Amino acid sequence: MKVGLFDSGLGGLTVAKTILEELEGVELIYIADNKHAPYGNKTKEEILHYSIAIVDYLIVNYDIDALVVACNTATSAAIEDIRKQYKELAIVGLEPGIKPAIEQSTNKKVGILATPATLKGSKYKCLSLSLSKDYDAHIFEQACPGLVEQIEAGATDTQETIDMLDVWLSPMREAGVDTIVLGCTHYPLVAQSIKKVMGESVNLVETSKPVARRLLHLLEQRGHQNISQNSLKILTTGDIKEDMVTHILGKNFTVEKVTIE
Ligand code: DGL
Repeated sequence: MKVGLFDSGLGGLTVAKTILEELEGVELIYIADNKHAPYGNKTKEEILHYSIAIVDYLIVNYDIDALVVACNTATSAAIEDIRKQYKELAIVGLEPGIKPAIEQSTNKKVGILATPATLKGSKYKCLSLSLSKDYDAHIFEQACPGLVEQIEAGATDTQETIDMLDVWLSPMREAGVDTIVLGCTHYPLVAQSIKKVMGESVNLVETSKPVARRLLHLLEQRGHQNISQNSLKILTTGDIKEDMVTHILGKNFTVEKVTIE
């Protein structure tokens, strides 16, 4: 089966990697929309426009069976419209794992790191409010403007990145937060730096495994045989740091530049 994935840049490759580990017999086509990155400071309308253009491109050029919106920000801004417009596609999105984080936290003090656009989304707001009430949990929300740019530049563990994280994370550290949601697919790439600031014992929650399992379930409903080789093709609309691609996936991939308006 052919599965299209997209993100504003490198972040969604963390999801692609998990899918390659968990599934067999899938042909992944990944689009990094580096021309328009980051998405997190754009309006809902802009993100929706970029997302629809990418899905059209994946359908016209690759005839995909399924789509993974490998970006929390695009999921928040665009997945409802994508579902309405492309009814024939199996669609999976990425959402901050607030519920598993609250359930895993021993002191019910949970941090959420995400882009400004994700934290502004109405679905996120409603869910975080109702879950914090239901579980009597204290949620510490933090937008991280500029962090995606650091990661795209390969600066995952530089002093500058650690200093940025320190500013965002100190209130959580001081309050004794024991679990943090990585609510952006780029953020697993700074997991070690987050641990440096918060302490090794902090529990970091990301959702690529449940997403891979959900994708497998939807593909199997469409007759997917989970056997044989996987493949991954990486396309970018802008400039991507290829050594970061190698770093994330553990081997070299050629990246092809495409134009998607
Ligand atoms: N990786 C993205 C996410 O999951 C978007 C980051 C951005 O472009 O701001 O939210």
